Amino acid sequence: MALFKKKPEAEISLQDIILPEHVGIIMDGNGRWAKKRGLPRSAGHTAGAQVFRKIARYCSNIGIRYLTVYAFSTENWKRPKDEVDALMRLFKDYLEEAIRDFKDDSIILRFIGDRSAFSPELIALMEENETESKDRDGMVLNIAMNYGGRAELITAMRQMAREAADGTLDPDSIDEQVVSDHLYTKGEPDPDLIIRPSGENRTSNFLLWQSAYAEYVIMDVLWPDFKEKDLDAALIEYAKRNRRFGGV
Ligand code: FPP
Repeated sequence: MALFKKKPEAEISLQDIILPEHVGIIMDGNGRWAKKRGLPRSAGHTAGAQVFRKIARYCSNIGIRYLTVYAFSTENWKRPKDEVDALMRLFKDYLEEAIRDFKDDSIILRFIGDRSAFSPELIALMEENETESKDRDGMVLNIAMNYGGRAELITAMRQMAREAADGTLDPDSIDEQVVSDHLYTKGEPDPDLIIRPSGENRTSNFLLWQSAYAEYVIMDVLWPDFKEKDLDAALIEYAKRNRRFGGV
């Protein structure tokens, strides 16, 4: 069943569709955006961070319940030091701003990934943001930082092996739910829609387990140019798809 009411295609707007509960975004194309303008890659990330703020707020306003953004992968440490340093500064600025300015906000902030690799200052900011926002009632915003889908599964497997060894987990009881409950996204619904701007057709290790049945929408726009109307277009494209979860 399509998730929208019958209407000529050009007239379909957000009011006509059922929104996905959980949206994932691979915020890609910052480097190319900067290169096109003869700017350093870090300028692309600065512009990308502004777009992230705008789109996260927009998702919350239109009623998305869960948004997961890919901000830094386990592989991104391989980038030049000045680029990694610039990204760390952007994360710090955003996390300080979130504590200072988002007091009356409804957004619940969570961080997924192995945070132990970050500076003690950044780790403290992540924890403070999670604690400050955990009792709010709005959209859950997962920021994937030092995140990799394979690393997440390895962490889960090690934890399950430990529990099996100490007798608290029966190996025969391990099913999809038990695995999901050992991931960073425990308790959250799987993403329905994953948006990848910048035209690349790859998962790039993003939410590997959770995206088993997600609809992918690849868009030909670089992340720093991404607008609210692009999100609308992805949501409408998602609504047109016919999700069968392997059935008929
Ligand atoms: C991928 O584009 C983008 C990243 C590795 C960083 C994403 C980070 C941000 C959008 C800004 C900060 C976010 C927060 C949460 C404040 P790329 O650099 O690989 O682009 P390219 O493929 O064009 O080189």
